[in-house]
Amino acid sequence: MSNGRSVLATQDLTTDQVHSIFDLAEKISAEKIQPGSQLPPATHSMITAFFEPSTRTRMSFQMAGLHVGVHSVNFDASHSSLSKGETLTDTILNLTSMKPDVLVVRYNESDELDRLLPTLKIPVLSGGSGKSAHPTQALLDAFTILKERGQFRGEKVFIVGDIEHSRVAKSNYDLLTRLGCEVGFGGPKEFLPSKEKFPKAMYFSSLKEGMQWATVVMGLRIQLERHSSGVKVSDRDYHAEFGITSDRLKNFANDGIIMHPGPINQGLEFAPEVLADSRCRVLQQVTNGVAVRAALIKKVLGGA
Ligand code: CP
Repeated sequence: MSNGRSVLATQDLTTDQVHSIFDLAEKISAEKIQPGSQLPPATHSMITAFFEPSTRTRMSFQMAGLHVGVHSVNFDASHSSLSKGETLTDTILNLTSMKPDVLVVRYNESDELDRLLPTLKIPVLSGGSGKSAHPTQALLDAFTILKERGQFRGEKVFIVGDIEHSRVAKSNYDLLTRLGCEVGFGGPKEFLPSKEKFPKAMYFSSLKEGMQWATVVMGLRIQLERHSSGVKVSDRDYHAEFGITSDRLKNFANDGIIMHPGPINQGLEFAPEVLADSRCRVLQQVTNGVAVRAALIKKVLGGA
């Protein structure tokens, strides 16, 4: 882990550390993350500072904290002194001066935060950074694959969509290939990164071929906010060629699983009926995210 205990990218975790997080997540999931389970008293504090919108990641970190005795305080960027001209660096330094035990940060591309975060003395957990990294999403995705498919080796994970602008795809590529999965990318040419950057990935130009190959299909949202010069492919053309529909799922293994990190634009990357398909695990991913983040928080605080 960088600066001792921070996790800013999947590369900050050894494969052994990842397995150990999964073992603890499994235990926490079985023992604690159930309705009615008693929450432990809070012994630590965590600040969640999200400079980009989030539903799942921020709430999941906060729920995870509750299960391992960590009380969260949320920094609301939209009502903060950023609007008075305070810099990101000064904002983070002020938040850490309040002495939380853990800081969770999500931000768009920012060289100043890339430089600052690894120098902080407390554990910093990434909630997603630009188009580079979303380590806890990759952890929960891998944990979901393990729980649902029972293994990593032999699994073929087909990631479909805006790979070039996706931090989820980058973190999943690193983590899943290290764990023993094969990874395939599919999508319109403008969404696919160069093969040199992802030498272990298979590239599919047709959705049908990728779905026939895969045991896991993962859809991705088109990251409109990261296309500075606009998106060339229309929503209609994208859905016609790469949208996952019940008809196209006929090409997919009966025992395969369908995933998506969310948020989903229904009718674009997934037709609405896909969420009702018996192979869909989108909400299980969210549930697993709480257990995985709880395990990670406990580990970086030195527990278990
Ligand atoms: N998967 C994910 O990062 O979702 P949010 O943007 O809602 O946190």
